[in-house]
Amino acid sequence: MDLSRVWHLAAVFCLTYILIKVIQLHRGRQMLLKALNSFPGPAPHWLYGNLRELSPISAIYRKVERWSCLYPFAYPLWFGRFTACLIITHPDYAKPVLAGMEPKDSYGYRNIIPWIGKGLLVLHGPKWAQHRKLLTPGFHFSVLKSYVPLIVDSVKVMLNKWEELIMQEKSVELSEHVSLMTLDSIMKCAFSHNSNCQIYKENSYVQAVFELCFLLYARMFYIVGQSDFLYWFSPHGFRFRKACQVAHLHTEKIIKERKKALKVEDELQKIEKKRYLDFLDILLCSKDENGIGLSDEEVRAEVDTFMFEGHDTTASGISWLLYCLAQNPEHQQRCREEIKTILGDRDTIEWDDLNKMTYCTLCIKETLRLYPAVPGVSRELSKPVTFFDGKTLSEGSWAVISIHLIHKNPSIWDNPEVFDPLRFSPENMSNRHSHAFLPFSAGPRNCIGQQFAMNEMKVALAMTLLRFELSLDLSKPQPVPIPQIVLRSHTGIHLCLKKLEFSAA
Ligand code: HEM
Repeated sequence: MDLSRVWHLAAVFCLTYILIKVIQLHRGRQMLLKALNSFPGPAPHWLYGNLRELSPISAIYRKVERWSCLYPFAYPLWFGRFTACLIITHPDYAKPVLAGMEPKDSYGYRNIIPWIGKGLLVLHGPKWAQHRKLLTPGFHFSVLKSYVPLIVDSVKVMLNKWEELIMQEKSVELSEHVSLMTLDSIMKCAFSHNSNCQIYKENSYVQAVFELCFLLYARMFYIVGQSDFLYWFSPHGFRFRKACQVAHLHTEKIIKERKKALKVEDELQKIEKKRYLDFLDILLCSKDENGIGLSDEEVRAEVDTFMFEGHDTTASGISWLLYCLAQNPEHQQRCREEIKTILGDRDTIEWDDLNKMTYCTLCIKETLRLYPAVPGVSRELSKPVTFFDGKTLSEGSWAVISIHLIHKNPSIWDNPEVFDPLRFSPENMSNRHSHAFLPFSAGPRNCIGQQFAMNEMKVALAMTLLRFELSLDLSKPQPVPIPQIVLRSHTGIHLCLKKLEFSAA
C-alpha cells in the first residue's frame, strides 16, 4: 500500500473518531440538561461551566454557601461544558439518595482508585457486602477497647513534642503533628505496627497523602483533569503518580512484614492467643465459604483505604476540634472541668471514661457540624430518585450530598455559624431531622470507623486539655477551610499552647 493511502486512511479514522466523540459529548450534554432542567442553579459559562466562579480555592466555601442560600434544597454545578452534578444541601433531599445502595460516582471516586484501589470505600454490589461483613468484626467494642491505651500513648508523644516546641515558638501549627499522631495510632491499632513515625518525623507518607488529596481536589476543577489521557501527560499527573508510589511503598512494607511473620510456623497460634485479631490479621487470614481468601490486590486496596481513611479524617476532626475550643474558651474550660471530674487523681484516660465525657461529646459533635472532616459524598444514581417535592433526578445522574452545606442550612439550624454544643443536648435533638447531622454519612454506606474516630477524638481532647490551655494565635492568618477530600485549612491551624500548672506530663 502506498504511503499517501495510509495517511488518507489514518486521517479518515481520526476524523471519524473525533466525530463520534463530538456526537457522544453532545448527546451527553443534552441528557444532562434534561436531567437537571427542573433544578434551578447558578448560570454556567458556555465552556467553563461554574468552574471559574469557584476560584480561588480559598474562596470556594463562601461561594457555595451563597448559592445554597439562593437554592436551599439543591442546585446543579457544571464542571466545564459536559460534566455536571446536583449539589444537595437539604436533609430531605439527602435522605432518599443515602437510603439506597447507589454506587459511588464514576467522576470523583474513579480518580482515587489508582491510589487506594478498590477497597471498601469505592466497592459496590456483592463484593462490597462481602468486604463490609468481613471487616465489621474489626470494629467490635472489645477490639476498640484494646485500642484506647495505644491511642493514649500516641497522643502523649504528640503532647511531649508540643511541650518542647512551645519553649521556642510562640504557637504551633497543628496539621502535620496531628496527622503523624493519628497515623502512628492507626498503625499501632489496626496493623500492630510500631513505626515511631512521630519520633523519627517519618512523614513521607503523610506528605504524600496531603499531596494526593490536593491533586485529586484540583483535578475536579482542571479542564485537563477531565480526560485520563491528557491528565497522564500533565505535570499534575506526574506528581500524582509519584505521590502514589510513596504511599504504596509505605503500605506494601507493612503487608510484606506481616506476611513474613505469618509464615513463621507458630505465628498463627500467637494470633489465637492475642486478645483480638487486628485488621491485617482479618484481611490475611479470612476465607469465604469456599475456603478462598482475599487476593493480594484486594488486601492492598483495603490496607491503602484504611491507612488513609483511618488517619486523615480523624486528624482533620481533632485539629478543628482544638481550633473550636481555642476560639471558645468558656466551652474549653467546661470540657476540662468535666475531664478532671471523671479522672480524679488519674493522669490518663481509660475505656470506661469515654462514655462519661458528655459535654466533650457535645463539643465534638458541634465541631463536626461546623467543620465536617468529610465535607461531602457522592453517588451515581442507578435508578431515578423522586424527592418529596415531586422533582425527579434521573438514572445515571451524579448527586453530591454536601454534608458541609446541610450542616450550615439555616432552615435546619438556628444561627448556623455559631459554635453552640447544646444544639446536641437530648432535648434539642428530639425534633431534629434524621439527616440534618451527617458527619459519618447515613444508610448502608455509613462510616465503618465512626466509633474508632469518636474514641480517638475523645482521647486526644482529654489528654490535650489536661496539659494545655489553648488560644488562637492572632498574629497568624486564621484558618480557611478547603474541602480536599477531607476538610483542611488553606492557611494551617496555628494555636498558642500554655502548659497548665499541675498538668500531667
Ligand atoms: C472524624 C473521622 C471520620 C469521619 C468524619 C468519617 C466520615 C466518613 C463518611 C462521611 C463516609 C461515607 C463516605 C462515602 O459515602 O463515600 C465514610 C466511610 C468510610 N469510612 Fe469514615 N470517617 C471517619 C473516620 C474513619 C476511620 C477512623 C476509619 C477507619 C478506621 C474510617 C473508614 C471508613 C471506610 C472504610 C468507609 C467506607 C465504608 C463503606 O462504604 O462501607 N473512617 N467515613
